[in-house]
Order: sequence, then C-alpha cells, then structure tokens
Amino acid sequence: MRLLVTGGAGYIGSVVASALIEAGHDVTVLDDLSTGHADAVPAKATFIRGTLRDDAARVLSEGIDAVLHFAAKSLVGESVANPALYWSHNLGGSLALLEAMRETGVRRIVFSSTAAVYGEPERTPIEEIDPTRPTNPYGASKLAVDTSLTEFARMYGFGAISLRYFNVAGAHQDSDGKWYGERHSPETHLIPNVLKMALTSGPGAVKIFGDDYPTPDGTCVRDYIHVADLAGAHLLALGACTPGEHRIFNLGNGAGFSVREVIGVCREVTGQDIPAEVTPRREGDPAVLVASSAQITSRLGWRVSRDLRTMVADAWAFAQGGPR
Ligand code: UFG
Repeated sequence: MRLLVTGGAGYIGSVVASALIEAGHDVTVLDDLSTGHADAVPAKATFIRGTLRDDAARVLSEGIDAVLHFAAKSLVGESVANPALYWSHNLGGSLALLEAMRETGVRRIVFSSTAAVYGEPERTPIEEIDPTRPTNPYGASKLAVDTSLTEFARMYGFGAISLRYFNVAGAHQDSDGKWYGERHSPETHLIPNVLKMALTSGPGAVKIFGDDYPTPDGTCVRDYIHVADLAGAHLLALGACTPGEHRIFNLGNGAGFSVREVIGVCREVTGQDIPAEVTPRREGDPAVLVASSAQITSRLGWRVSRDLRTMVADAWAFAQGGPR
C-alpha cells in the first residue's frame, strides 16, 4: 500500500515507518521536524518536511491509500504549562488531516492515542470501556481526536483504529543495520534517563520520583511495551480498518514494573551500578498504570513477544551506537 506516516521523524513514527517499509509498503513521511530528526526517517521513505495544515492535502492527493498518524506534541508537563499549544497541534492538526483525508477520499487511518486519556484509573488492568477522564491537556487533546475519529467514521465512512499506548520503550534495528530509538529533548522518560546516566557515568543519580505510593516497593508501576511489538500492532491495525467503524485498542504487555525494578534491569543490562536517589513525587503521576490488551489480542491476534530486559537491552544498544 501507499502510506502516509505523519510524525515519521519521531521515535515511534520512525520505528513504525521502518517496519512498514520492511513489510513491503511504500511510505511517505510528513513531519515538521519540530521535535523529530530528519536522520530518523528511513532512507527508503519519501520525506516531506511540512505541516498537517499546509501540506497534508497535497501529499494525500498524490495517491495515498491509508494514513498512520503520529504527529503530535507528547509531553505531559509541557501540556500543563502550555495547553493552547497542545490543542492547536494535537486537535487542530489532526482535524486538518481528517479534513484533507475527506477532501481527497482517503478513508483509512491508524491513530496514535495514549493511556493518558484514562487519567487516574478506577481499576487495574485498564480496559477500553473504562471511563476516560484525562488529567492533563495532552491526554484531553488526544481524547478529542479519538472522539473526532468516531464521528468521521460515522458521518463520512472512515475506517479508523486508535491504539492507546502505555509506556513505550526499546529500540529497533532494521535489516540494513540502522537503529531507530528514543531521542527526546528534554528527555523525561525513565528508561532513557537511567541509560543516559550509565552512558555518561557522570556525577549525580537517577531520580526516583517518590517511594511512598501504595505499591509493593512504594514506587510507581507502569506497563512497558517494546516499540517493535507496538509496530507489529500498527501493521495488524492497518489491515483491520473497516469503513464506517472506529475501533479503539489498548496496547501494553499486561504486566507492571516498578521504577525500582526498571532501574534494577538497567543495572543488570549495562553492568553498571547506576546510582539512584529518591526525590518527591512528580505531580500528576498515578500510582499504577497497567493495560488490559485482551481486546487487541482476541480481535486482531496481536501478541507481545519482547520482555522488559529486551526493551532495556535494545535501548542500551541504541544509546551506545545510535545517533544522539
Ligand atoms: N520516573 C522517575 N524518574 C525519572 C523519570 C520517570 O522516577 O527520571 C518515573 C515516573 O514518575 C513514572 C515512571 O518513572 O512513575 C515512568 O515515567 P515516564 O516519564 O517514563 O512515563 P509516564 O508513565 O509518565 O508517561 C507515559 C507516556 C506518556 C503517557 C503516559 C500515560 O510517556 O506519553 O505514560 O499516563 F501520557
């Protein structure tokens, strides 16, 4: 298929673009490089530097069969500090894309949604039917796109699938040996931050944001999923988009790991005694976020095949050898 990958210069978008190319698809990446990196775009993709508002319609009219939509702002803290930016990029940009799809007759879309739409969960593991009460503008703006997709499916016959990711980690190497991984600036995520400490062996310590949560070791528990398993889910979703339907699936591996457990695995993989210190809680962190992925498993046949150790080992390979 001829596919448009928005945000294909970012972490998850570039991994999925690479997996799509390896599966035989013809990929065009549209990215404004506001947070992505041009050298993260797979060499075999056509790269267009541009925005959803200004460029999506032109690119779509050149003969695209389906869209995988990753382009977004994705930092929770930044969204609290600057909500308008998130509404403008995440909802405004997505609506411009959907309108361009409607105009050009492209009706298939896989959307990068997030666990942040659920907010503070009432139960664990979280299911797709659970209440969506986002606690920050990032989650609220992504939920608004999910709502828009439901409407575009009903009103205009779009076939849409939203994938709600939990904690994505790891890196991917393509068949040419190129690594794709996480390169955020600033980096706020746990695993890359811990590995950065191991890589630089610099002064200081990894910060553990609170150890007084109601969890077995007092630190927050999250559901980590390997970015390559996530890419596999996108390939399945692409084949399952059905005209007139918007389906939503959680994507996690169903098991939770605490911050201390993650740091322990990073120490094992790197062979380094990475120092860590407990600091006060980070605002807005729920104690436990674990997904039920039963729906995507039963409906699309998706399976997790990589564990936390593999995620950390791949992220470590990328941190050591990939671009930084
Ligand atoms: N943490 C630390 N120290 C760090 C970084 C993180 O202790 O240096 C802790 C956090 O407090 C949290 C856990 O490690 O308990 C994981 O934090 P991340 O920042 O790696 O990930 P989040 O769970 O905060 O965020 C992820 C996605 C978001 C998404 C959210 C859903 O990255 O995009 O899940 O709630 F919105």
